[in-house]
Amino acid sequence: MTKTIVDQEVAIVTGAGQGLGLAITEKFLLEGKRVVFIDVNERLLNEVKASDQLRKYDSSKAMFLTVDVSDVYSIKQSVGVIHENWGRIDILVNNAGVRKETVIEEVTEDEWNHVLSVNLGGTFFYSQAVLKIMKQQKKGRIINVSSFGGQAGPLTSGAHYCASKAGQLVLTKVFARSLAAQGITVNAVAPAAIETPEMEKMDQVVLDKMKMNIPVNRFGKAEEVANMVSYLASDAAGYITGSTFDINGGLLMR
Ligand SMILES: NC(=O)c1ccc[n+]([C@@H]2O[C@H](COP(=O)([O-])OP(=O)(O)OC[C@H]3O[C@@H](n4cnc5c(N)ncnc54)[C@H](O)[C@@H]3O)[C@@H](O)[C@H]2O)c1
Repeated sequence: MTKTIVDQEVAIVTGAGQGLGLAITEKFLLEGKRVVFIDVNERLLNEVKASDQLRKYDSSKAMFLTVDVSDVYSIKQSVGVIHENWGRIDILVNNAGVRKETVIEEVTEDEWNHVLSVNLGGTFFYSQAVLKIMKQQKKGRIINVSSFGGQAGPLTSGAHYCASKAGQLVLTKVFARSLAAQGITVNAVAPAAIETPEMEKMDQVVLDKMKMNIPVNRFGKAEEVANMVSYLASDAAGYITGSTFDINGGLLMR
């Protein structure tokens, strides 16, 4: 039996249940892409599936898979399911992340391993898992959602979070260099202080102080990150690889 290969580009977005990941999926759906929503939180995925927002789009273009990105076996299984059903994988956005504010003295080995295996391990193993397919296609786009914390150290986040986000930035370069000749580009975005459910958990005094230090004098919007990811995923960005794009209202200028 010949395998079905869908006409539209297929984009995988991890951590798609809320926040930046969800905004990126919406942008891709709006562009007519097929989108795979990956999240460890099945409840969030079910809420997205049932939302009015999603009903605006053709439901056959959205696939929902509950995957823990720190579980390499589940990652490989999900890539198999996507390829089996849609026959192609054009874009991978490694966005799933956990952020902790634990002070250095109190980070346990378990918490360290968890943060590193989700944020950094998830990025490495999802990218590894889609490589064979992207190489066969001679085309692919990988976008890693890192952070200001991985560039400049913490605003409020812990050492383990910052180390994982810095790790994503060097992985971006390693993968970019290794894949550049095969039509696959790999880039990162480094947001800071974007309004998402994660920010709602933060102390108002800390948030007010943070805002005062942002040159544009406001927090960022998830759509602003989604717009940059969409550009990096497009054909127009074919000459850009191994780069990191700051989305931080001028907080870090380099
Ligand atoms: N919001 C910001 O200001 C900001 C700033 C810098 C970087 N970032 C990065 O952007 C990404 C998204 O951030 P956000 O603010 O939308 O966070 P969020 O917490 O709102 O969303 C993260 C999503 O990832 C999912 N997730 C967590 N662990 C997972 C796992 N093991 N497997 C699969 N999915 C998992 C969560 O269920 C959630 O849906 C993260 O990588 C974060 O580090 C965000």
